[in-house]
Amino acid sequence: MNYRHIEIEPVTPAIGATVRGVDIASTLSEDVLDELRHAYHEHLVLFFRDQKLTPERLVAFARCFGEIGYYPFVEGMAGHPEVVEVVKKEDETINFGGLWHTDTSYLERPPMGSVLHALEVPRVGGDTLFANMYLAYESLTPGFRQLLEGLRGVNSAEKPDAAVTRTHRMADKPRDAQDIVTTASHPIVRTHPVTGRKALYCSNAHTTHIEGMSAAESAPILQYLYRVQQREEFGCRFHWEPGSVAFWDNRCAQHNALNDYHGHRRVMHRVTLEGEVPA
Ligand code: SIN
Repeated sequence: MNYRHIEIEPVTPAIGATVRGVDIASTLSEDVLDELRHAYHEHLVLFFRDQKLTPERLVAFARCFGEIGYYPFVEGMAGHPEVVEVVKKEDETINFGGLWHTDTSYLERPPMGSVLHALEVPRVGGDTLFANMYLAYESLTPGFRQLLEGLRGVNSAEKPDAAVTRTHRMADKPRDAQDIVTTASHPIVRTHPVTGRKALYCSNAHTTHIEGMSAAESAPILQYLYRVQQREEFGCRFHWEPGSVAFWDNRCAQHNALNDYHGHRRVMHRVTLEGEVPA
């Protein structure tokens, strides 16, 4: 596509593009939105710098791309229930989302995308890694792809490594998640509803086993897929500054918030967008 209203600069050949020439706090024209949607589907995660966003404007921007969703375990901000504060305080050693994952894949309809706005960040550290799950899938041999055909992964919110990353935020602002089902089975290879491309959709954070197999039987296949998903050439690394925004597609990308900044405070605002049942 020839971008006429925004500037797009890829971060790596695999994933991520910096978008320039747009103030996402303003009301965006359909022409700009069309180009942003196109860039989102092409690059899987869009990065913006120096954005001055109130929680209302963050929600308004997210709403241009779909319906707003809710995070099951943590209450949103007072007056802005759609916005979850992703915080790591100076005295905390655990960070939210600090492992490879796609957001809340343990829900029956996991979110299609998430928007994260940086307010306070350490001068160094606290970067987020992103990885392209189309490329991870496409790197597999035809024989292995055939093996995965029809397999479903069981995803749970209770895997300890992931569950621990939300403990501080749940202690601060618990949300009553009693009625929410937090285990879901999804195809290990899902087809993106817009691009039609196939992507790996299992994660070290949430997938416990392959449906119909024991955890021990599933492990060699899943562990192999996790190693493929995390290959460096499929990824990019984003360094946050106050005012940075990332908008990623959970259907074909994974991310990992690095936890290398103990003693420093990091404050982000996050909004998720409703998704569909993966197919
Ligand atoms: C998340 O997983 O939503 C948090 C990512 C981050 O803080 O960089």
